[in-house]
Amino acid sequence: MGKLVVLTLLGVGLALLGERFVALRERINADREVKPVEPQNCHLIEGIENGSEDIDILPSGLAFISSGLKYPGMPSFAPDEPGQIFMMDLNEQNPRVQALPISDGFDKASFNPHGISTFIDKDHTVYLYVVNHPYMKSTVEIFKFEAQQRSLVHLKTIEHELLQSVNDIVVLGPEQFYATRDHYFTSHFLRLLEAFIDLQWTYVLFYSPKEVKVVAEGFSSANGITVSLDKKYVYVADVTAKNIHVMKIHDNWDLTRLKVIQLDTLVDNLIIDPDTGDILAGCHPNAMKLLIYNPKDPPGSEVLRIQDVLSEKPRISTVYANSGSVLQGSSVAVVHNRILLIGTIFHKALYCEL
Ligand SMILES: *[C@@H]1O[C@H](CO)[C@@H](O)[C@H](O)[C@H]1NC(C)=O
Repeated sequence: MGKLVVLTLLGVGLALLGERFVALRERINADREVKPVEPQNCHLIEGIENGSEDIDILPSGLAFISSGLKYPGMPSFAPDEPGQIFMMDLNEQNPRVQALPISDGFDKASFNPHGISTFIDKDHTVYLYVVNHPYMKSTVEIFKFEAQQRSLVHLKTIEHELLQSVNDIVVLGPEQFYATRDHYFTSHFLRLLEAFIDLQWTYVLFYSPKEVKVVAEGFSSANGITVSLDKKYVYVADVTAKNIHVMKIHDNWDLTRLKVIQLDTLVDNLIIDPDTGDILAGCHPNAMKLLIYNPKDPPGSEVLRIQDVLSEKPRISTVYANSGSVLQGSSVAVVHNRILLIGTIFHKALYCEL
């Protein structure tokens, strides 16, 4: 009798484990291949080889690019080099990137930039907010952009007990932002377990000097976040759930979920097309290839455009798709005057004329 119980429990345990494996493979699109969609005039951006995880662009056409992310479980081609912020002026004839020097007094050696967001105050000063993972912690760094010198002055490091495993950020006012948390646990083992059993314990946080609070919960892994042109809605990518949550902003900064746009790709960073209000989503068509990196069968890239976001039936089209032969692991895309920039977690960056 005792043996029978043990055998039954073992069988049930193995069946559950098998079921979890199948579910995980489906969640990360382990079997998906991409059909190429490539605009005519594209070229790789010279000077970016070790990632361009997030990009934000000013209305004037200045693009900021975070590079050199070290993130547990993801490949890094330059694991020993600190991260950098690059800048590219899309108004130039043949725009080139340059690394922005950072003022002294900031620990540059441990700089590990992830999600970024620009903010322009009423005096037209430009600030860059950067999610940073020094020594694998999470902080938010505030920099002032010196347009003349083309450099960054470090102003402040924000730390808070709720700011853990931060992925992306969108700034709404001076020192006021929403940030996403992509994992509930911080230990590597528990993070794996979390993905395996899909706990949906991650969230969106609101931060201001006066108040810090969780404003939306129930994400498998909250990732990219951005705000609509009219500042009434926030769009949040749930990367492993392969969807985008459309959320309404309330006066007290709380968020309520209006709807979820389901996709068949792992959605990373979200950017708004300044001319149309469409969402541009940097996506991972097959995340198995990201997690188990093989240069002979690399992870592909995919950029989707979501039009009529608030309508009953948003329209979804593919702006760019590549098997990884050109661009690996796309995480973000921005547009400005028919120029498209696509960034990647750890690989290169692409410039296209649309
Ligand atoms: C990328 O990283 C490699 C290895 O550390 C380094 O040799 C190379 O110069 C880096 N490239 C750029 C453009 O930073």
